[in-house]
Amino acid sequence: MKLRKKVIFANMIIITLVLVISSPIIVATVDNANLHAVYQYLLRQSNFSQQYLAEYLKTVAEPSRAFEYNRLTLEKMLEDLSGCEVTVTSIADEKVFPIQEYALSGKKTYLIETTGDVRKFYLSFPVYMNGGIVGAVTFEQPLYREDAMKRGLILVLAIIFTLALLVSLVLSLVFSRRLIKPLELLTRASEKFSEGNFEPVALPRTRDELRFLTDSFNNMGRNIGAMLQKLRNEQEKQKNFIDNVTHEIRTPLTNILGYVDLAGRVADEDKRQRYYSYIKSEGERLLDMVNNLLELSRLNKYDLSANREKTDVTMLVMRVIELMKHRAESSDIKIIPDLGQVTADVDADKVKQVLLNLMDNALKYSEGKQITVRLWKEDKVYLSVSDDGRGIPEEDIPHVAEPFYRSDKSRSRKLGGSGLGLAVCREIARAHDGELLIESRKGEGTTVTISLQG
Ligand SMILES: Nc1ncnc2c1ncn2[C@@H]1O[C@H](COP(=O)(O)OP(=O)(O)OP(=O)(O)O)[C@@H](O)[C@H]1O
Ligand SMILES: [Mg+2]
Repeated sequence: MKLRKKVIFANMIIITLVLVISSPIIVATVDNANLHAVYQYLLRQSNFSQQYLAEYLKTVAEPSRAFEYNRLTLEKMLEDLSGCEVTVTSIADEKVFPIQEYALSGKKTYLIETTGDVRKFYLSFPVYMNGGIVGAVTFEQPLYREDAMKRGLILVLAIIFTLALLVSLVLSLVFSRRLIKPLELLTRASEKFSEGNFEPVALPRTRDELRFLTDSFNNMGRNIGAMLQKLRNEQEKQKNFIDNVTHEIRTPLTNILGYVDLAGRVADEDKRQRYYSYIKSEGERLLDMVNNLLELSRLNKYDLSANREKTDVTMLVMRVIELMKHRAESSDIKIIPDLGQVTADVDADKVKQVLLNLMDNALKYSEGKQITVRLWKEDKVYLSVSDDGRGIPEEDIPHVAEPFYRSDKSRSRKLGGSGLGLAVCREIARAHDGELLIESRKGEGTTVTISLQG
């Protein structure tokens, strides 16, 4: 059975039970009150009649036989007095009703009897003379008014019962609709969920458990939607990454194969030597790229902190500068060191790799006249490489640290870059709980800073 039907059915059952149990109780209570009033009335009449008869019997010659012979006179007299039908019974009567028998034995007794459609109230009481019972009097009161009232009450209750059922049915329909509607909306929304549609459910204004359920349902939808979007982005990134790797590897490989082919066919020894040198440099570029890729993948997977050890960073930086000096001089570029004395817990090889990458970039791309290498310590260790060269276009700055991103593609590729250097630097910074910051102005120069938690 559907939930809505269940709610309506339960309501109907409750209303029916309440009315079926309460109706007879109401009818019985009202009827009892009415009967009690009749009883009280007859009781008063009986007391009065007893006194009256006692006085009357004093006036007759043979009081003990008055009930036997003056029966009709007595009955007429008492009927006028009480307004009820009266039956007089003598002690000498042989055939009497049980109620009269009780009265003749000295007990006031009442009885309600139904004959046909009519209920009658009987009250019998004894009459005394000189301490002994001489007869009994029975009042008979038909309960027309009380019966009519009882029937009227039953009718009213039946009408109330029907109306209550109808009203409750209508209200149940309305309320169950309001109760079920959110559930229907939620069911529909969960069906849409399974199809990947995470639209929030809009509920009419309520502040009950269903509202909380819907809110958490909507939250869940939002979170799953956001997570899916993130996954999709991640998937897209991975796909781009693989596309880039394939593309980048294909170029030097094609070059290598081309020069190998040429070197085999060319007769001139000089030319052949040149082709071999091209093959070597392309091979080295390929090896560099593969090494960088391996590095990126390793940095993404492992926590570097295990390789950290106390390092004289100033010394390390000076050694790298020494290493690059010759190349800088041949390009007519001056290297200016500005180094504080810093010792820190870092991975020396990685820091060296960062500096080599940054200085290599400055030498390759800046076309400037000088490179400044700074090292200082505040809350973290900072290492920066600045040049006074051409700078990076503003729109490229947020992207240059993405794998394979090059600001000037053809030029960078010509210079042998594959776009992985800064990505590796950023991962190394992250592995040291630091970050990579790129500041650059076109035509003024570039400063790349990495921070390391040391
Ligand atoms: N000092 C700089 N001045 C101007 N452009 C720069 C500078 N440093 C980096 N870039 C730009 O940022 C790009 C990304 O640099 P990144 O070091 O990541 O890659 P790459 O040098 O091209 O290749 P790889 O470092 O893998 O050999 C470079 O191609 C270059 O266009
Ligand atoms: Mg580089």
